Amino acid sequence: MERNRWYKDMVFYQIWPRSFKDGNGDGMGDLWGVLEKLDYIKSLGCDGIWFSPIYPSPGADCGYDISDYMDIAPEFGGMEAFRKVLDGVHERGMKLIMDLVVNHTSDEHDWFQKSRRRIEPYTDYYIWRPAKPNGKLPNNWDSNFEGKAWTWDEERGEYYLHLFAVKQPDLNMDNPLVREEVKKILRFWLDMGVDGFREDVITYISKAEGLPDDHLFPIYKGMLKYNHGPHIHEYLAEFKRDVFDHYDCFTLAEAPLVWPKRALKYIDEEKGQLDMMIQFQCQCADCMFTDYMPMKFSLRRMKKAFSDWQIKLQGRAWNMLYLENHDHPRIISRYGSEKFREESGKALAVSLLFQQGTPFIYQGQEIGMLNWQPEDPEMYEDVQTRYTYAHSNLNKSPEVRLKKMWRSSRDSARTPVQWDSSENAGFTTGTPWFYVNPNYTEINVAAQEADPNSLLNFYRKAIKLRKALSSVRHGNYKLYYPLSSTHYVFSRETTEEKLLVICSFSDKTTALKVPAGFDISKAELILANYDNVSDKLQPYESRVYLWKK
Ligand code: NOJ
Repeated sequence: MERNRWYKDMVFYQIWPRSFKDGNGDGMGDLWGVLEKLDYIKSLGCDGIWFSPIYPSPGADCGYDISDYMDIAPEFGGMEAFRKVLDGVHERGMKLIMDLVVNHTSDEHDWFQKSRRRIEPYTDYYIWRPAKPNGKLPNNWDSNFEGKAWTWDEERGEYYLHLFAVKQPDLNMDNPLVREEVKKILRFWLDMGVDGFREDVITYISKAEGLPDDHLFPIYKGMLKYNHGPHIHEYLAEFKRDVFDHYDCFTLAEAPLVWPKRALKYIDEEKGQLDMMIQFQCQCADCMFTDYMPMKFSLRRMKKAFSDWQIKLQGRAWNMLYLENHDHPRIISRYGSEKFREESGKALAVSLLFQQGTPFIYQGQEIGMLNWQPEDPEMYEDVQTRYTYAHSNLNKSPEVRLKKMWRSSRDSARTPVQWDSSENAGFTTGTPWFYVNPNYTEINVAAQEADPNSLLNFYRKAIKLRKALSSVRHGNYKLYYPLSSTHYVFSRETTEEKLLVICSFSDKTTALKVPAGFDISKAELILANYDNVSDKLQPYESRVYLWKK
């Protein structure tokens, strides 16, 4: 079917449902709460919603451990609430995408329960191996979350592979029956009217033949043997041919360790099997490979990553743009400045929203929520955070270890959305399932609604502009001053118009540097985060200039 690729004109909002809004007073965010807030999301200029998993799940990884793919968890309101949300989204001219998590299931999924008992046809739905003769594990792979990637199952008398938590066994995608199950899941939601999928760690689904040891990759041993594995493109092409090609939908693939050249094998508009990719390079400006090794933020690294993706995908594929999601701490705390919260939040918004691609905004990003800083590590909920805390930096003091977690934990960005300054930040009338960041009395939606200069209203303005300007959608991207560690300056240009984006990432006043060929006295300043502009840039000052040709 000829595709009009409507996702290119959209801005998405990511909902991590447990912490978005509680509609029934039980302390847990739910779809009733989402229903109340659809107009708010629309008011931001967002026309799509990505839901992190809302299926039944024991919750070992906050929903990324699914026990039933064709239902909605009762704590989120079940199918009844979901259908209302889906209708509400479509009535507003918006789209909705679901999270497809099929690298693994929950160990409580019926398939796993039958597989461990060797009940057909489920015996080979998962990746089972006997112990090696010397009693060793089947290979040397690490799980991404909890120690080794193999756990012994007494009932089956074999090890099963889990690249994430012990309660998240990996599916055996080499089994054609498993691939048929995936297609059934996809058709089930697409037939209901869902508009696409974000595909969780989809590049992990094909493991190297024989599951060999990995002697090269320093962390997460095994990564080079299961990421971008031997049959990955074949399986994704099969899903596309048998399912996606028959629906007006789009796919967004999460892909750890990917760079533009590799990404094009997946998302090239002519030959790819998917539409967009969540890559981690732009998320690594303050870490090596992952967030679990926090380093000083490097603007140069961020600019290089963004620019690489902008330039190398131009005309061939479409970028997915993001700064925050449920797997990373808050971006102002990471790349900006808590001291200059508003200003740096706006600079970050400008840096992202004027690039080519489809932006995804994570709940609370639009009001500049900051990292949560618990005083006791026991307060962490996330399986990965708890494991990392218990096993790393053991020679450091408890204070240092805790501070490292503040900077790196996924829970730093999983606290309830701060709606207003009433008790529990207006998130729930009950007892919240998780801690509310105590700064909610100051940082909340209601306060920012009332302030025309707030970060929230700045997001609205910037989104409106990006939608009105063809150069943001089509324009060529060019980076200036690549070696500057304080300024991010880029242009977007079409035959009709030219944009210059200038963002300071310094907490000091700095010189305004304008690249040759841009006469700002002849341009319109269409967006700025300070009222008074001069020939100097104030801390985190950001401007967007427009020339019509
Ligand atoms: C990536 C998801 O974004 C993350 O939240 C989850 O824990 C892992 N995949 C495992 O599903």
